[in-house]
Amino acid sequence: MANEQRAAIIGVVTASDRASAGLYEDESGPAIEAYLRVALATPFRIERRIIPDGFESVRDTLIDLADNVGCDLIVTTGGTGPSPRDLTPEATRAACPRELPGFGELMRQVSLTQTPTAILSRQLAAHRGKCLVINLPGKPRAIELCLDAVMPAVPYCLDLIGAAYVETDPSRVESFRPKAK
Ligand code: MTE
Repeated sequence: MANEQRAAIIGVVTASDRASAGLYEDESGPAIEAYLRVALATPFRIERRIIPDGFESVRDTLIDLADNVGCDLIVTTGGTGPSPRDLTPEATRAACPRELPGFGELMRQVSLTQTPTAILSRQLAAHRGKCLVINLPGKPRAIELCLDAVMPAVPYCLDLIGAAYVETDPSRVESFRPKAK
């Protein structure tokens, strides 16, 4: 059962060699945070991480956020493409035993309305116990589009994996929970 008592903990992870080295300012992480602040109606706190691209850095950050910080949801941005250093999907799979393929399928589908290069993103979602991880591309303009697409199913997904109870603000995103039988 979902835990209705406590505020959700949400990790926002930017995977970027340049942003983590301070060579440019991370725009996508703040865009995710801003999105969550308007889309969610229930209390939550955010844990931000800006880390280098790469398998181990992303995998270890996800495991730490899920197991030690106790995140219910982690949204990553960056490292989903086909460049050699883009290893966010591999790291997500390594941290999370069970994949939810529908998330990546839907996000690529809606992203194709924005750019033909949306097919280059290998973004996915998966869960590690009571923590759902969703990959987003690194481009700031992908954030709202992708989150709008999947957010309707996120609260129910969190219920099913036993994470904190989350509600969206229906004036911004209408979420869907099937009625109990
Ligand atoms: N999806 C959306 N919605 N908007 C975009 O601009 N860019 C694409 C793709 N998905 C894009 C998108 C591009 S150009 C790439 S290379 C891949 O995401 C991977 O990006 P990443 O490596 O920054 O995660």
